[in-house]
Amino acid sequence: MIFYFSGTGNSAAVAKIAARELGDQAVDIIGKRAEDYDLSSEEYLGFVFPIYAWAAPEVMQQFAQGIGRTDAYTFAVGTFSNVAGMALEQFSEIVPLKGGFGIVMPDNYPVTDHIIDTKESAMEKLCKAKERVADVVRRIKCKEEVFDVKRGEDARDNTYLKAPVFNAEWRKTKPYHVSDACIGCGLCQRKCPAEAIRMEDGKPIWVKEDCYLCMACLNYCPVEAIDYGIHSSGRWRYYFKGFSEENYIREGEKHETNTDTDGLRPRA
Ligand SMILES: Cc1cc2nc3c(=O)[nH]c(=O)nc-3n(C[C@H](O)[C@H](O)[C@H](O)COP(=O)(O)O)c2cc1C
Ligand code: SF4
Ligand code: SF4
Repeated sequence: MIFYFSGTGNSAAVAKIAARELGDQAVDIIGKRAEDYDLSSEEYLGFVFPIYAWAAPEVMQQFAQGIGRTDAYTFAVGTFSNVAGMALEQFSEIVPLKGGFGIVMPDNYPVTDHIIDTKESAMEKLCKAKERVADVVRRIKCKEEVFDVKRGEDARDNTYLKAPVFNAEWRKTKPYHVSDACIGCGLCQRKCPAEAIRMEDGKPIWVKEDCYLCMACLNYCPVEAIDYGIHSSGRWRYYFKGFSEENYIREGEKHETNTDTDGLRPRA
């Protein structure tokens, strides 16, 4: 069984590829409880998630707390744009891991004062990520007992001191704002795993003070009507559409209504 959380599709893609190669099942954790799964006869037990502020997303950590003792080969795969800190080691304190792997993928967080990825660098990352995913899945299949992840400088402090601040103070919805370009399609609401968005008079409003800050709403909006704070305006939006560049260069794509329904989460 492979449990995943994903805002913009990177981690979902990795989880689904791993599940396909292992002949296993990939399960989106949103709306699920680990306690409801009988995992006693699982050969593989995996967790795939994006790295948020050098840690596993809190929603994934909370889900994992419901996992009981297991004899399965346990592994986690973190997808991230730069470095993961000690995220996987920290996650291993919740579910003891035999394998931990990091995969560098395009950034989905264009809201800080520095740019991590342009479209060009994102395409380069996807090209390398395709090979890396294949290699990681092969090693998982062999039940390799190793942690292979880019941690970066100050990894311990980042994970153990800064991630708690992110979870307590940074996951605010207040900085979200919507421009007149909004066409009222409701995709942002349907993509939101936290049910933090409601459509009112044909426009989204954020109805929760905090959310996961997964950036799905901002990145999937087909007309780039959503911004967060002052830095995201005009920055390239990203969500996973495949590993090859041609998936990202459809003529007029930016202004097409996004009809993608894959991965839409059922509303409670
Ligand atoms: C709130 C937030 C925090 C992030 N923090 C990190 C980080 O600490 N290190 C990093 O390399 N990437 C970071 N990223 C980038 C994502 O981890 C990366 O784009 C990931 O592959 C997205 O996965 P997804 O498409 O499955 O949601 C962050 C993204 C978000 C939205
Ligand atoms: S996804 Fe964009 S266009 Fe659609 S309702 Fe949300 S803000 Fe408006
Ligand atoms: S409001 Fe946006 S960033 Fe927050 S959880 Fe929902 S989709 Fe993700």
